[in-house]
Amino acid sequence: MAELEFHRHLNLQAKSPAEREAILADPGFCNFMTDHMVDICWSEKGGWHRPRIQPYGPIELEPAAAVLHYGQEIFEGLKAYRHADGSIWTFRPDANARRLQASAARMALPELPVEYFLESLKALISVDAEWVPSAPETSLYLRPFMFGKEAFLGVRPAKKVAYYVIAGPAGSYFAGGVAPVSIWLSEHFSRAGRGGTGAAKTGGNYAASLIAQNEAYENGCQQVLFLDSTTNTYVEELGGMNVVLVYKDGTLVTPLSDSILPGITRDSILRLAEERGHTVERRPVTIDEWRAGFENGDIVEAFACGTAAVITPIGMIKAKDFTIGSPDAIAGEMTMSLRDELTDIQYGRREDVHGWMYRLDG
Ligand code: PLP
Ligand code: COI
Repeated sequence: MAELEFHRHLNLQAKSPAEREAILADPGFCNFMTDHMVDICWSEKGGWHRPRIQPYGPIELEPAAAVLHYGQEIFEGLKAYRHADGSIWTFRPDANARRLQASAARMALPELPVEYFLESLKALISVDAEWVPSAPETSLYLRPFMFGKEAFLGVRPAKKVAYYVIAGPAGSYFAGGVAPVSIWLSEHFSRAGRGGTGAAKTGGNYAASLIAQNEAYENGCQQVLFLDSTTNTYVEELGGMNVVLVYKDGTLVTPLSDSILPGITRDSILRLAEERGHTVERRPVTIDEWRAGFENGDIVEAFACGTAAVITPIGMIKAKDFTIGSPDAIAGEMTMSLRDELTDIQYGRREDVHGWMYRLDG
């Protein structure tokens, strides 16, 4: 595959070092974007072409662009971590690249070669490296995305597509940091269904989750838990994170379903747990199993996991007629030790024996 030569158009209005440092000191979660973005065009005739680094700013689209009408869009999320020696690394980007390809296949978008995905991340870091923060628990969140930009109103896959990478500095996704979160159980709204797009990282899944997310906020919760749309009994995942339950014998259980996003954080954590000798089960789990298991003491911890959330303990599930756990639950031991192990690898504090880290600078 030909190497990409990015055309570089640098941002003359880039933030000053002082402005940038002020943002990095309190980044929130992607409240600000870096100075640049990367884009690569695709057309049915020309394939992938015109790779560019350009100033971060508005995208010009025709009002008839496919994405604005039929939602033909996919995205990824991964983080750039600054290690103690100043170098910049990301975590399992090949897995994100392959998931982007799987999402593309589902949404009738073209597949971006893995090499191009990796090159696009490095290209952005080559101009925005100063935006990777170094304070504990901070990172630069990278957001690659792709959409149909062809202007037409017939319903068919777009013949012109754009791929971009933008990035924003990130602290904790939840305002309370790693404190246990309360989760609202959505009993009326589903996120995805059989044969649908639940396993793809596509904007529509998140749009479908927003009304339930609003219910969560109204009920004092930070995230929403979805059940399967067919029987309304099986646990699927949160609006933006996977779920793992910890049993008292040390077994970890995570829901298995073809309408769940296959999380890279979840896969990594479960591998670390298996290497510690824990049994890991990927199988259907009902909300009744969770409720009964918590009540009889079989289930001792639960956590949410994903790139944005890292590993966040679940303190309470709140449903219309019942609760599991309590809002002032304390973070579980297994949850926190797996979190430490994973973040130690990501921040370069522990040897990367799996070859998961990928250097983005230099
Ligand atoms: N599930 C959903 C719906 C998500 O948005 C995410 C975040 O990307 C995840 C799960 C976790 O995936 P990952 O660990 O690859 O970030
Ligand atoms: C991620 O973790 O990368 C996501 O896309 C989830 C979202 C809540 C930001």
